[in-house]
Amino acid sequence: MIGVFDSGHGGLTVLRTLVRRLPRQAFVYLGDHANAPYGGREPDTIYRLTVANVERLFLQGCRLVLLACNTASAVALRRLQQEWLPGAYPDRRVLGVLVPMVEAITAVPWRVKTPPANGDGAPTVVGIFATRRTVDSGAYPLEIGLRAPRVRVVQQPCPALVARIEENAPPDALAAMIAGHVADLLARCPGGRPDSVVLGCTHYPLVADAFAAALPSGIAVLDQPRIVADSLADYLRRHPEFDGRDGTGPAVRFLTTGPAGASNGLATRFFSRPVEFAAIG
Ligand code: DGL
Repeated sequence: MIGVFDSGHGGLTVLRTLVRRLPRQAFVYLGDHANAPYGGREPDTIYRLTVANVERLFLQGCRLVLLACNTASAVALRRLQQEWLPGAYPDRRVLGVLVPMVEAITAVPWRVKTPPANGDGAPTVVGIFATRRTVDSGAYPLEIGLRAPRVRVVQQPCPALVARIEENAPPDALAAMIAGHVADLLARCPGGRPDSVVLGCTHYPLVADAFAAALPSGIAVLDQPRIVADSLADYLRRHPEFDGRDGTGPAVRFLTTGPAGASNGLATRFFSRPVEFAAIG
């Protein structure tokens, strides 16, 4: 069983792609609805909540957990891998959605923390749209800068967008809000435009069309769920000991730290299929 963790239901946009890409794996999804959203929380709180929820998934029998939440990945992943996991669960692994995005942007593997000797490509500009806390963590510019200093990272926080998406705000209101964020980012890009952008929040795939419409043509929008799913498939090929097929056949279970049932309707929008949460207790 592979564990997939998110602050709430946003990570279901990642899970729905994982299930398509890896149809024979068994997944258990945990949403921390009792404490969502994470995007404006303090870093220490996000770290503490993330560790507690990863441990819950370990206790469910997962040996591999993916942080599907950008905010948790940006704030907690590196610290958790360095300070907690090796002592507490040395035979288990935690991955995070930020990692494959950094690898896709830099074309340098995560384990490499210096630019390759022959890595002097043309300078490029990448735009990152994300929650306030992901932006403030500086994780994207830091990790990209280590591996590809030629890549200029321009970040744009979109603080209210998660809430507006969850409220199912009218499309024109969402489009206007997104157009404002895109204009703010473009104004700070060298040359007035990025070469590519990352929708660095689990909720933004639901409004990807509005981002595409607001961006000038010819800018690549990196597809986070697809890049993450390809990366997990590659990881499982290289590490068969973490394969999630446990003999019970393909399966997806949904757990929540909140009351069971309260989030089913919204979650179904994010997963594109009916979702029924059970309370993890
Ligand atoms: N899952 C979060 C992320 O991807 C968005 C929702 C939240 O703020 O908790 O950053």
